[in-house]
Amino acid sequence: MHIQTQVQLKPFNTLNLNSIASHYVQVSSKQDLLEALAFAEAEQLNVFILSGGSNMLLPEHINALVLHMHIMGIETLAEDEHTRTLCVGAGQVWHDFVLWTTTQQLYGLQNLALIPGLVGAAPVQNIGAYGVEAGEFIDTVEVYDRNQKKFTCIASADCDFAYRHSVFKDDPNRYIICAVQFKLLKTPELKLQYGDLKAAVGDELTAENLQRQVIHIRQAKLPDPKEFPNVGSFFKNPVISQQDYEAIAIKHPNLPHYPQANGQVKIAAGWLIDQAGWKGKKLGVVGMFHKQALVLVNYADATLHDVRRTYQAVQNDVYHQFGIDLEPEPVLFSQQGLIRSHQD
Ligand code: EPU
Repeated sequence: MHIQTQVQLKPFNTLNLNSIASHYVQVSSKQDLLEALAFAEAEQLNVFILSGGSNMLLPEHINALVLHMHIMGIETLAEDEHTRTLCVGAGQVWHDFVLWTTTQQLYGLQNLALIPGLVGAAPVQNIGAYGVEAGEFIDTVEVYDRNQKKFTCIASADCDFAYRHSVFKDDPNRYIICAVQFKLLKTPELKLQYGDLKAAVGDELTAENLQRQVIHIRQAKLPDPKEFPNVGSFFKNPVISQQDYEAIAIKHPNLPHYPQANGQVKIAAGWLIDQAGWKGKKLGVVGMFHKQALVLVNYADATLHDVRRTYQAVQNDVYHQFGIDLEPEPVLFSQQGLIRSHQD
């Protein structure tokens, strides 16, 4: 284990924000993790977990020990006639893992192709796209529990998975995810109900083609972070009551909406931002992408301050036009490396 000081995190966050970590270490094993935690305790440093950096907003300085998760490996744990259970290291690249499952004829994750980030972050916000959420295929999450100071396993049923939510979000300082166990299907069950996915897949009803089409749709709409640094959807799609939805729909009948199982209605944040005039609009060096208004882009060398100025302006405009509060999806961190509210 090699602890470095004053490390630039710009290459490790997909929004390319300049952020200097006072202490930084790559964690490649459970042993590394224990040693790093002991160091942090001895030096009285907060611990900051860095995965793919694709869903976080970093301050210019972080006075903490950054643990960059690099635990690798894919291993089969169990197999029956219909399923195979895999244990996947938190440091594996999510998209490469999805592609690999398809080559192994293991099914379920194809709708989630091309989501940026690493496997260890997938359970945190229960990544989802095109009608599938990762939580549906997660069997168990292997963690280090910082309260109990031991490695343990959390069964999927106890992860509290919901739309962009899990127990790991509720209690962000408690668990460090080391590996994720996925139970995948041996026979494909294609989920094509989202938007125009069915039309894109056409007659070639295979998981391989489904994956290809998802990649194609994402590439057409979502900016490549290497070209336009971004963190994917910047706001969550608001979930509101049926009554509130009906009140808005009188004036805005075209608002895309998705009735939820609990009677509430999810509405499209991208549409609201677009209608508020922000699609392709910039404030300084930060703006909303011209092909998908839900994605905020760092067009030059933005700081966290620049990013906040733009997204707060978007929130204000959407609130004034529609009375809807947009909640940012990425996690905002303080200089102490702790999660902080978007409101202050
Ligand atoms: N829309 C507009 N203008 C825009 C953007 C969207 O009018 O600029 C409309 C679209 O026409 C569509 C609706 O809004 O009717 C929804 O847009 P889209 O289908 O592109 O999906 P989304 O709601 O914007 C969500 C996820 C994405 C995920 C896609 C596909 C959230 C916050 N975002 O986006 O997730 O890939 O669905 O499932 O739930 C991510 O989390 O980083 C992410 C990319």
